[in-house]
Amino acid sequence: MIYNSIIETIGNTPMIRLNKLSKDIKGEVLVKVEYFNPGNSMKDRMAIKMVEDAEKAGILKPGGTIIEGTSGNTGMGLALAAVAKGYKCIFTMADKQSKEKIDILKAVGAEVIVCPTNVSPEDPRSYYSVARKLNKDIPNSFYPNQYDNLSNTAAHYETTGPEIWNDTERKITHYAAGVGTGGSMCGTATYLKEQNPDIVSVGIDTYGSVFKKYKETGIFDEKEVYPYLTEGIGEDILPKNVNFDVIDHFIKVTDKDAAVMTRRLAREEGLFVGWSCGSAVHGALEYAKENLKEGDVMVIILPDHGTRYLGKVYNDDWMRNHGFLEGKSYSTAKDIISKRPANYSLVSVKKSDSVKEAIGLMNKTSVSQIPVMDGDEVVGSLTDTKLLSKIIENPSLKDAGVEEVMESSMTFVARDSTLDVLSSMIEKEKAVLVRDEKDQIHIITKHDILEAFTN
Ligand SMILES: Cc1ncc(COP(=O)(O)O)c(C=O)c1O
Repeated sequence: MIYNSIIETIGNTPMIRLNKLSKDIKGEVLVKVEYFNPGNSMKDRMAIKMVEDAEKAGILKPGGTIIEGTSGNTGMGLALAAVAKGYKCIFTMADKQSKEKIDILKAVGAEVIVCPTNVSPEDPRSYYSVARKLNKDIPNSFYPNQYDNLSNTAAHYETTGPEIWNDTERKITHYAAGVGTGGSMCGTATYLKEQNPDIVSVGIDTYGSVFKKYKETGIFDEKEVYPYLTEGIGEDILPKNVNFDVIDHFIKVTDKDAAVMTRRLAREEGLFVGWSCGSAVHGALEYAKENLKEGDVMVIILPDHGTRYLGKVYNDDWMRNHGFLEGKSYSTAKDIISKRPANYSLVSVKKSDSVKEAIGLMNKTSVSQIPVMDGDEVVGSLTDTKLLSKIIENPSLKDAGVEEVMESSMTFVARDSTLDVLSSMIEKEKAVLVRDEKDQIHIITKHDILEAFTN
């Protein structure tokens, strides 16, 4: 078989049986290994579809430029499409991304603009804003926007779904996939459910993302949002490609469980895959243990290759620093807050309080940082040093309201964050916040971490 260009090799990836990892499961567990795509990820499928749909719609014309804010897999897919079809590519990236990721995109001819990470998405310097501005300024340019561009879902409806249906000889009963933009889960699930409405779909979500709660309650809960490490799945927005009607269940998987399973996939099955593959398999097997019967066939999609994660989940030092190595126990945020009295209550001020009241409370309770609340929501913070310099600059501020002087809110962290992760966050930010099992908010400061390290 001779292909006319690299893009003709996208798709028709192999389906492989899990052997060791699925031994406790009734029924059969298969994985669809998407790193066999030329860009090493399933994103090749939707990248070429977004480009070809834009060509058909006349949005992208010969000699045009593709512009996207991306960090990895989608950029690679778009770059391959651009090479094959003769377009220019400009990607904007946040400066927290590894040099390797930038170099990979440059290797396939893309121009990469590195933008600061620590600015809000609306800031004109953010990688979103720079991409949008370039799209406005450069004639004949195309901004695919993988989150809301429904060609993403369509690519999986047209290719991934039929491949799974045919390769399982129509025997598939369960489909599991991580959910990021939603394209791979929803396009595939829509196709499969049209063939057999009894097929059950299981979406894998992360802690720190809004999807599971939204599906189960219809509530978009900002309290569910906090930083997590797993790359590619979970969101703090609802992308248009997520169609909750075709996702039957969501399972949340921690960063640690995902990392551990990713390494097991490499060592026990010879599948050298990416981090979100570990999330998908951990979550899917958890569901399968309870729900699969003899004769059932579950297919799990594995989105990408392990090379991008050599410095993370495949690096023992990184795993140790994050408290993820198996068989070891590490102190976490949960250990810090579990030592607090049962009647612990967070010292906070209301945004409608006066600065005078806030200073009075900080003095009385001897705290140097304090969250600002609006009802049950944390909407800001006050720190003594910043407050002092503002008042020195403008003494009349002491008679103002807290809302006028407050800074941004402290960040929420996961309960299983280790001391190493907590201290690196506190170095960059202020104190951090964490919710206990009863939804009570706790503050964790540098002093708490120092104390935990010395205990
Ligand atoms: C590594 C990885 N896994 C999973 C996903 C989620 O797939 P989707 O965007 O189709 O929901 C992505 C998407 O960016 C990804 O890059």
